[in-house]
Amino acid sequence: MSSPEKIVILDFGSQTTQLIARRVRELHVYSEIHPFNVPVEEIKAMSPKGIILSGGPSSVYDEGAPRVGPAVFELGVPVLGICYGMQLTTHLMGGRVERSDHREYGHARLSILEDDHIFHGLAPVPATHQVWMSHGDRIEELPPGFKATAESPTCPVAAMRHEERPIYGVQFHPEVVHTEIGNDILSNFVFRICGCTSSWDMHSFVETVTREIKERVGRDRVICALSGGVDSTVTALLINRAIGKQLTCIFVNNGLLRKNEAETVLSFLKELDLNVHYVDASERFLSKLKGVEDPEKKRKIIGNEFIQIFEEEAGKIGEVKYLAQGTLYPDVIESVSFKGPSATIKSHHNVGGLPEVMKLELIEPLRELFKDEVREVGEELGMPEDLIWRHPFPGPGLAIRVLGEVTPERLAILREADAIVLEEMKASGWYRKVWQSFAVLLPIRTVGVMGDERTYDHVVAFRCVDSVDAMTADWTNLPYDLLGRISNRIINEVRGVNRVCYDISSKPPATIEWE
Ligand code: XMP
Repeated sequence: MSSPEKIVILDFGSQTTQLIARRVRELHVYSEIHPFNVPVEEIKAMSPKGIILSGGPSSVYDEGAPRVGPAVFELGVPVLGICYGMQLTTHLMGGRVERSDHREYGHARLSILEDDHIFHGLAPVPATHQVWMSHGDRIEELPPGFKATAESPTCPVAAMRHEERPIYGVQFHPEVVHTEIGNDILSNFVFRICGCTSSWDMHSFVETVTREIKERVGRDRVICALSGGVDSTVTALLINRAIGKQLTCIFVNNGLLRKNEAETVLSFLKELDLNVHYVDASERFLSKLKGVEDPEKKRKIIGNEFIQIFEEEAGKIGEVKYLAQGTLYPDVIESVSFKGPSATIKSHHNVGGLPEVMKLELIEPLRELFKDEVREVGEELGMPEDLIWRHPFPGPGLAIRVLGEVTPERLAILREADAIVLEEMKASGWYRKVWQSFAVLLPIRTVGVMGDERTYDHVVAFRCVDSVDAMTADWTNLPYDLLGRISNRIINEVRGVNRVCYDISSKPPATIEWE
């Protein structure tokens, strides 16, 4: 999209780099993450209003430690170094960083020594604040022209600034919630020091992107694979806003959707007057899955079948030039720290191979957005709350939640159990608070007693996790009475189930889905 005011974040591998970008965007200023070694000419061409050097696990003395060229400080653009970013600034500008094998990790008390721009409004001096530290090395000697602006009991230079130029450093992490004054510091940097205005919001995003899509597409046709999930639906709505009936959304029902899902999604899309091409391919998928138990085989079969059907259906639409996809920012950040393991652990089925197979040009209107921003765009475009707040749902659908062979009978049991989970999660207000919640049908049967009769029936596992990006997750500490209600209802209402378990594994070492 055309260029809003921008803060460029250079990533040195910290786990919290993505958080810096989010915090800046929450201030309504656009920010982008780039790898630390992006050439300085490219940074210049981005015309940033400010540059943030992230933290990272290295020591400036490590062999091959990530570095920027000193030219970054000569662009005339304000720079804020965070943790490793501050140590690197010190090292590059002639100060001394002391190597330490000992890591300081956790809360620390910060004493502000000077009411300068970055700490504006946070003094009267002396003021102390709780901050979050995570570092090994520390600064022993400031570079020429710099002064210390804050200290902590273990860190004589907990913050610094250049006396004449807009170069700042903080040893702690302003981007994490444990640093109480973190947002004030980032806000001071972005507005007071870089001079940004608060102009990045989803309303202007929608306006700009709509205009750009219209210009790019002209009179050509666009297709889009719609799953009813937030990302693909928002993508379709945006493109629909730009070019209306030139967009055809292909919605493939693979027979692996949740209870009533296809009907709900379809009726909503029709209400919004989207051009939807609905294909009920349930039989096709289910017959291909017959007798298959291996999770990877199931995933591959579903992925390939989907591509085939999509191609066939697209062929019926006539000449198409573009394929729209709901790719999000975390998938495109070329950074050193976000190469997650999940893609190699399970072959994820999104609309992967489609553009290559079909020789279509891609339109990815959400590729600059985080998930929460996509939801805001959805709100902006009038999507109902229920759809906006839907939990992520995997492309292979219930096939990877019916463990072992997928049959219509087993799918039917899972659908009923899953619907109860969702109903209770929503009724108790927990649905919006968690990342995902769902039922899994296990491939075993256990003995129970119902009335006076022995039963030998299925087991349902209930999984509910908290996460920010699905790379790591923890099981949710749900109240016992809610767990009890869900278990009771499933056992009483779903025929064929006599036992419910709650999954209390975190990721890693488990994964979110069971297959
Ligand atoms: P795992 O099980 O790898 O899941 O911890 C991480 C997140 O990804 C979702 N998931 C998928 N999403 N296609 C998708 O689009 C897939 O094949 C797929 N498999 C898992 C999962 O629901 C969780 O949010």
